Amino acid sequence: MYGMVNKAIADLVCSGFGEDKWEEIKAKAAIDIDFFISNESYPDEITYKLVGSASEVLGLPPAKILEVFGEHWVLKTATEGYGDLMDAGGATLPEFLENLPNFHTRIVMMMPRLQPPRFEVSDRTNNSLRLHYHTHRPGLSPFVVGLLRGLATRFDTVIEIKHAAVKDAGAEHDEFVITW
Ligand code: HEM
Repeated sequence: MYGMVNKAIADLVCSGFGEDKWEEIKAKAAIDIDFFISNESYPDEITYKLVGSASEVLGLPPAKILEVFGEHWVLKTATEGYGDLMDAGGATLPEFLENLPNFHTRIVMMMPRLQPPRFEVSDRTNNSLRLHYHTHRPGLSPFVVGLLRGLATRFDTVIEIKHAAVKDAGAEHDEFVITW
């Protein structure tokens, strides 16, 4: 994944728990990189190791770390670093969700080595839709839940998220029914 992901994890840990904890997390993960470069690609393994080590050092389950990270990604990383892209994604939560299938297409133009997730929307009603999440990466569905919570905060909208199909439990891909 692009270094901006690992950088955002560093930012989240340092702002919430201090730099010492971040150094401890990197040491435990045996990662000897002082600073991640945003537009350089790193093996996914590094990101997974950081999340696992953060889980041990901070005493929180990995799913919780990923969820908090998803919120941070939307509310800080994306908003501060890519405000125009986020604004172009939609003016309301439903509009943004309906545009999600195309969202990373624009990012691929800036980051050609991006391996983005693929989203699809179905079953749209007045106040709900079903979001299909496809990826080759394991274990990231809690990250998606955090991203959705971050978006709900961004648009000041109360939502309910139902994890309707779970890839880890044998489904072909993850599906979330989002009601607002
Ligand atoms: C301007 C804002 C955003 C930027 C710059 C961005 C960029 C990225 C980058 C660099 C990665 C790592 C993948 C790689 O390097 O190959 C990634 C992954 C991911 N992004 Fe985005 N993203 C943005 C917003 C969003 C939003 C709003 C969502 C969904 C609500 C989202 C969903 C995801 C997911 C789920 C992954 C994990 C990778 C996977 O599932 O395989 N992103 N994104």
